[in-house]
Amino acid sequence: MWLLTALLLWVPAGAQTDWLLLQVSSRVVTEGEPLTLRCHGWKNKRIYNVLFYQNGKVFEFSTGNSEFTILKTNLSHNGIYHCSAMGKQGFESAGVHITVKELFPAPVLKASLSSPILEGHLVNLSCETKLLLQRPGLQLYFSFYMGSKTLLSRNTASEYQILTATREDSGLYWCEATTENGSIVKRSPELELQVLGLQTQPPVWFHVLFYLAVGILFLVDTIFCMIIYKELERKKKCNLEVSLDSGQKKRVNSHLQKERYLEEP
Ligand SMILES: *[C@@H]1O[C@H](CO)[C@@H](O)[C@H](O)[C@H]1NC(C)=O
Ligand SMILES: *[C@@H]1O[C@H](CO)[C@@H](O)[C@H](O)[C@H]1NC(C)=O
Ligand SMILES: *[C@@H]1O[C@H](CO)[C@@H](O)[C@H](O)[C@H]1NC(C)=O
Repeated sequence: MWLLTALLLWVPAGAQTDWLLLQVSSRVVTEGEPLTLRCHGWKNKRIYNVLFYQNGKVFEFSTGNSEFTILKTNLSHNGIYHCSAMGKQGFESAGVHITVKELFPAPVLKASLSSPILEGHLVNLSCETKLLLQRPGLQLYFSFYMGSKTLLSRNTASEYQILTATREDSGLYWCEATTENGSIVKRSPELELQVLGLQTQPPVWFHVLFYLAVGILFLVDTIFCMIIYKELERKKKCNLEVSLDSGQKKRVNSHLQKERYLEEP
């Protein structure tokens, strides 16, 4: 539907007989909807070299066509529009204010646990946004990504669960909220999750030192054992010699006693 109010209020004044009018399909649109601009000559006079301006800056040039459509509006399309064209001379239209309303803001991805997370925990990720306009039957769809990997695509629930986090789940996560026909697609900023392993792997130098220490201990132990063993052996020999010595003396003594006995008359 064309807004013709501006056309009705438009009365040429002054010396100029050829004036320009910018017509718009709607002065207020919801993001994702199309918006058509039409540059119109007074009494349908032929115009050429039509330029469309947003906030005073040219954004579209067309030699023949006096119509331009923005297929998917977004918030950057807010502003005052006008057009200029060549007829017998150069003309400029008055400005028309266009308002693009936001349906929902870009989502924010939130995690139930703050990073770093210990391995084995359950992590809930939620893609949070809010509908700013009432639209009966409007359904948002949520997708979850880790880096370039899709974890969950076009789900009506805004949550995703990592049941048991492992170190491989560490990375940059982000989510996307879209309308059913994809007229609006908005992605969240990235959220970094770091999952820590329960037993951290010691570095290589630690292994080298460990085995070196064990090796030295073993060597020292063996040497000690050998020393102790030799010492014990030596002592055993000594004791044997001592007992042998004393045995012989006793026998000698008994011989002597016998002899004395025999010698006694
Ligand atoms: C808005 O739409 C234009 C194309 O019409 C696109 O170039 C621009 O990146 C969009 N801006 C945002 C914030 O999505
Ligand atoms: C995660 O979500 C599930 C279901 O949505 C809920 O039962 C559970 O309590 C949540 N856990 C945490 C840690 O938020
Ligand atoms: C997408 O759906 C919305 C309603 O949810 C509608 O207003 C819009 O025109 C549709 N867009 C396209 C490209 O079909």
